[in-house]
Amino acid sequence: MIILKPKSEKFFLRHFVANDVKGFYECQQDKWAKKGFMTVPKNLAAAKKEVKYEISQYKKKKPTGESFAIVIDGNFAGYVEVHDLNKKFREHKAKIGYCLHEKFRGQGITADAVKLITKYAFKKYKLKRIAGWCRTFNKASASVLKRSGFKFEGILKNNKCKNGKCLDDMVWAITK
Ligand SMILES: CC(C)(COP(=O)(O)OP(=O)(O)OC[C@H]1O[C@@H](n2cnc3c(N)ncnc32)[C@H](O)[C@@H]1OP(=O)(O)O)[C@@H](O)C(=O)NCCC(=O)NCCS
Repeated sequence: MIILKPKSEKFFLRHFVANDVKGFYECQQDKWAKKGFMTVPKNLAAAKKEVKYEISQYKKKKPTGESFAIVIDGNFAGYVEVHDLNKKFREHKAKIGYCLHEKFRGQGITADAVKLITKYAFKKYKLKRIAGWCRTFNKASASVLKRSGFKFEGILKNNKCKNGKCLDDMVWAITK
């Protein structure tokens, strides 16, 4: 079990465990999570499948991603992950993703979690680039990336389409 600890004692990061399903599901059910992501788990069974997949990656030599639970007062409060790892010809880069249960938002917790996992992932996977994408309306997410040291690179117009509407994505990245 890998554990990452920030200087502040507000939270720590640890690998997912099977018991995280309910917390993983619940942190993604509010209006902002549903707007911010293309999809969120629709029920506990779907969340269980995702958690199981993430746990299966920890044992792999070349995982597709690595997810950490954000633990506050012993409870699953959200997650932060590096994903899109080890893609052919793109082994040098990855993307970052995160979500925090709405009751813990607005305290700078996610930015601190992103800083921790970014430092960890650059070293572990010998990366040259970690990118964070967020919808242009997602000011909270853009603020997290900015405060975690990511640089704004531009906007991908009409990058995704959801419910018949095309959406623009901001691209942020840290490069080495
Ligand atoms: C994006 C998200 C992870 C930010 O987490 P967080 O720990 O609240 O981040 P911060 O505390 O750094 O706050 C981010 C901004 O939201 C604002 N905010 C304050 N209270 C808030 C609240 N109750 N709810 C949401 N945002 C709040 C903060 O003021 C801050 O803005 P600022 O930097 O301009 O001051 C969180 O809002 C979330 O889980 N959203 C849904 C999932 C999502 O969008 N994920 C990213 C997809 S790209």
